[in-house]
Amino acid sequence: MKIITVKNSDIAGIKSADIVMDCIKKKKKFVLGLATGGTMIPFYESLSRLINNKKIDVSSVKTFNLDEYVGIDRNNEKSYFYFMNKHFFSKVGISRDNINFLNGNAKNLKLECKNYEKKIAKDRIDLQILGIGRDGHIGFNEPGSDLKSKTREVILLDATRKDNSRFFNGKIGKVPKKALTVGIETIMKSKKIILLAFGKNKAGIVHRFLHGSIDKNIPASFLKKHRDLTVILDREAANELD
Ligand code: F6R
Repeated sequence: MKIITVKNSDIAGIKSADIVMDCIKKKKKFVLGLATGGTMIPFYESLSRLINNKKIDVSSVKTFNLDEYVGIDRNNEKSYFYFMNKHFFSKVGISRDNINFLNGNAKNLKLECKNYEKKIAKDRIDLQILGIGRDGHIGFNEPGSDLKSKTREVILLDATRKDNSRFFNGKIGKVPKKALTVGIETIMKSKKIILLAFGKNKAGIVHRFLHGSIDKNIPASFLKKHRDLTVILDREAANELD
């Protein structure tokens, strides 16, 4: 595992975008695993700027997003699909056919998850970018998730709904109670993983994740078994590390 600490989230966004871009340039049909949330915004800003300034052809890059709320239409501005369009897909030339997303409004959610899992298994993710929740979740794999978990429907914990209520005008009651998420086993099969964490709110979980033992109550801790994990922190998130 490699840990990189930089001054702030803007610099971390640039650093992570540089690493991702180097990887994309090396392989024609690159498969990129993506995440949403506040942490990802500086990363998507830097990556889209880099792609456009350097005129990199990303039309054949394939993407798989980690998660989506259940019961929210993808055109709804609270959906993760909408977030991705706003912050990344609308800015770069990735072919629409190459964008893969879980549909939280599918009639048969079990089948939706099974088919998504199959698609990822077929393509194999070259690089997965991740954030981390204050309870240690990755994707929507909440504490208690198994190392062997696959893409599935999950119930969100109140702590996560509370954290995400900032995207729902501060109203926890408006945050969906369920979501679809790629599983931990699925994430672990990615060839390379980059986890980003910024801000003082993340300092406690970053300490527990990096210094604690591997424990299903901190799902991110499973990542320490991965052979190619890079953790990029800003100073505030790294504040409690030794
Ligand atoms: C969302 C996802 C989540 C977030 C985590 C942190 O696609 O994968 O695990 O990374 O909830 O969210 P922020 O960045 O908003 O603190």
